[in-house]
Amino acid sequence: MDLHRYLLETTRIAVLTGAGVSAESGIPTFREAQTGLWSQYDPMTLASPEGFAQQPDLVWRWYQWRRELVAKAAPNAGHKALASIQQHLPEFTLITQNVDGLHQQAGSSDVLELHGNIHRTVCSRTGSAIEASWLSAHAAAEPPPSPHHADGLARPDVVWFGEALDECTLQQSFDAAQDCELMIVAGTAGVVHPAASLPVMAQQAGARVVDINPEHNEISRMANWYLQGTSARWLPVLAATLEKENR
Ligand code: OAD
Repeated sequence: MDLHRYLLETTRIAVLTGAGVSAESGIPTFREAQTGLWSQYDPMTLASPEGFAQQPDLVWRWYQWRRELVAKAAPNAGHKALASIQQHLPEFTLITQNVDGLHQQAGSSDVLELHGNIHRTVCSRTGSAIEASWLSAHAAAEPPPSPHHADGLARPDVVWFGEALDECTLQQSFDAAQDCELMIVAGTAGVVHPAASLPVMAQQAGARVVDINPEHNEISRMANWYLQGTSARWLPVLAATLEKENR
């Protein structure tokens, strides 16, 4: 069956997005050879609990820089297309590895953020939320002390290497993967687990998988359809197909 016909027959869609979906909003991805964040910075220094324990100021400033990048960015046509698909399809789940909040800014709701959100801040000891007003009352060049624990520091509410994902978000993502008829994967290299297992899980449970990415990778090889190119190009095409049916 071709993708066009399958889309028209599908009622349950799950989507998995990665950094590539925000690339056209001006936010660098992680693993691209020249421009990727991990080609310029050591992930274990900047995105691990050990790195934060050793150099909290450096890690805090790096996240401040990323927060500023994100603040200047706007959702692109790919983000907007996913928000629009959700309006047409009641059984729709958006799972993202991105921490930038651009899906929600585009109008998506109930987004499953597997790796957290850069706009939220928590106590490094208790995980309790820290308010923006507390942060703005402290210097920006170092992580403020936590209001919740004497030995705690403020840290971004994101998942670092070696840390567990939120159990509830992960379970909801597994459920969506096992329950959908179509999984759309966009803008992920598919190397970080458990996110990268979701398309495999969906396919094993009987769903078909479509992958959108300018580059071939493991996911494009296992997918039922591979749309080579950017998410801002292809996601609006999928949205238009679903909208034509006026569901
Ligand atoms: P990567 O940087 O590993 O991969 C980005 C993917 O997006 C690559 O496959 C690119 O080919 C593709 N890409 C680039 N531009 C694109 C575009 N305009 N449209 C569509 N695709 C495009 O990012 P992720 O797979 O998201 O985790 O990385 C997964 C996780 O690894 C991240 O959430 C982060 C990172 O370490 C943590 O920090 C825990």
